[in-house]
Amino acid sequence: MSYPYQIKSFEEYQSAYAKSLAQPTEFWGEIASYFTWRKHWEMTLDWNFVEPHVRWFMGGKLNITENCIDRHLKDRGNQPALIWEPNDPDEAHRVLTYKQLYDKVCQFAHVLRNNGVKKGDRICIYMGMTPELAIAVLACARIGAIHSVIFGGFSAQSIADRLQDAHAEFIITSDGAYRGGKDIPLKSIIDDALIACPFVKRVIVSTRTRTPISMIKGRDVWWEDEIKKIETLGLHDFEPEIMDSEDPLFILYTSGSTGKPKGVVHACAGYMIYTNYTFINVFQYQPGEIHFCTADIGWITGHSYIVYGPLSAGGTSLMFEGIPTWPDASRFWDIVEKHKVNILYTAPTAIRSLMSFGTAPLEGKNLDSLRVLGTVGEPINEEAWHWYNTNVGKGKCPIVDTWWQTETGGTLISNLAGITPAKASYATLPMPGVEPVLVDEKGEIITGNNVSGNLCLRSPWPSIIRTTYGDHERCRTNYFATYHNMYFTGDGAYRDENGFYRITGRVDDVLNVSGHRIGTAEVENAINMHAGVIESAVVGFPHDVKGQGIYAFVVYSGDTPADAHLSRQDILQTVTRVIGAIAKPDKIQFVSGLPKTRSGKIMRRILRKIAEGELEQIGDTTTLLDPGVVEEIKAGRV
Ligand code: WTA
Repeated sequence: MSYPYQIKSFEEYQSAYAKSLAQPTEFWGEIASYFTWRKHWEMTLDWNFVEPHVRWFMGGKLNITENCIDRHLKDRGNQPALIWEPNDPDEAHRVLTYKQLYDKVCQFAHVLRNNGVKKGDRICIYMGMTPELAIAVLACARIGAIHSVIFGGFSAQSIADRLQDAHAEFIITSDGAYRGGKDIPLKSIIDDALIACPFVKRVIVSTRTRTPISMIKGRDVWWEDEIKKIETLGLHDFEPEIMDSEDPLFILYTSGSTGKPKGVVHACAGYMIYTNYTFINVFQYQPGEIHFCTADIGWITGHSYIVYGPLSAGGTSLMFEGIPTWPDASRFWDIVEKHKVNILYTAPTAIRSLMSFGTAPLEGKNLDSLRVLGTVGEPINEEAWHWYNTNVGKGKCPIVDTWWQTETGGTLISNLAGITPAKASYATLPMPGVEPVLVDEKGEIITGNNVSGNLCLRSPWPSIIRTTYGDHERCRTNYFATYHNMYFTGDGAYRDENGFYRITGRVDDVLNVSGHRIGTAEVENAINMHAGVIESAVVGFPHDVKGQGIYAFVVYSGDTPADAHLSRQDILQTVTRVIGAIAKPDKIQFVSGLPKTRSGKIMRRILRKIAEGELEQIGDTTTLLDPGVVEEIKAGRV
């Protein structure tokens, strides 16, 4: 099998790009024709960015798992679909061929049906990175249930918020998860979440760590017992639910600049086609290659480039349970050598963290199988890019810097490995179908090159966000209302003399900490829940490994806490409870007041400068209600 729509030269890229904008329906219609449909679509695209309203392949009927599994059975049934590498290098790895994956997904889809799941039901998945997680995701898609995977680092409170928002009545989890040296007690965190979610009918629990857990009669069942029932009933194949192109495939919660995380909704057909197209073209995937994306399936990167993209392309996807630095900093290189990985796709934060160990962990590791390297999740600094290129790619592997978001479903701006030019710290050129523009504060489009602005997109690609679950207005105001007739990304970008884009980072109040999106408002809300706190302001600051760190300025009741160290620990504990450990501030400074304008608005610009250590560049403070507070904050910087 080769891919008829794989771009093979820079000229082909240019003509595909030109066609995709001039004739989007013909362009995407032709690509879509290579997939398995139960009914051909009637209209390829209908859209406006005002409501917003975007529909692709309307009237078409399909099931994404038929495209990710069934259609590969004939030619590649015995080829590995998933290779699973456990946390502990001494534990055996597992391989699931397409045939085995088919059997497991069908079996678990039966389990779901047996437990009362129907098309359209929302199912929360809270698991570690085991093959069962991928099976659970695919089984949901097969039965037409809408999966909502929650990353294992979120707290019970965050889970409860998401369960309530999605009104999810079903949960799939594990007793626990291994991550580096830690065991995460997933089921017991779920139990805490469920105190606030009495509507949850069923919790299916797979075994991994075999930590003792509570199993509530009538609500909780073991994955393995449920599978046995299906075997006893002699059930095998599971006829996939026939889905409409625009039926929701999944919800994934992500942080924005205001309020609680929003449930980004993706639709079946457009998401499938775009993740497949970008997987094949960005990485220049060749049949038989081993693709290792180091993300967690709890994030969009794992959804698109561990599960749906690679499998829809009939590829082999390697999933890893652990972390790059455990038991030591050669874990990734051992995996590359052991499984002869061809494509390694990871995050700048992981590269920087490995960089800090020097090159010793790479010594003696055979990385010859590597052909393509990739990065995602945050801007990559030039130093990390060169380190990756020299020490991992040995100067022979193109690096794709893929810029995209939970809301975009797949990569929007990236070079194509070995086909279009790479440039350190640049995502470079848009994918076919993607029309980036830079706009100024007033919403005027900035033309020409060597310019910076806010990054917007002018027309829809197939996997654009359809809505935010249960609240379409929120989708409009968040993404489509800032600038007329454009999707606003929240990122700033620079366009160089060749028209290459460099993403410079968020321009809204969203932080990117180790590639994880965290809203400053969310962290402030969590800190403010601590009994001793009056108010707080959270900003980012440059962090060598994480990219951005979290700096919190906190006004404490009675001015300063009696034991500052202890109060800091209490605040960290509160944030861990409310959001999860990933949102813990790196620095907490107790202040007597925050710099505010006379109208009461917090001047974050000033706090950002202080957090960044740019004390000379604070600028004019005379418009502040109390300019003196700035001097105090500067003096007390931590
Ligand atoms: C940032 C992750 C620079 C960006 C796929 C975006 C990047 C946010 C890159 C989305 C990149 C992602 N270069 N910045 N290659 N990729 N970002 O939703 O700020 O977790 O808006 O999706 O990550 O994060 P999300």
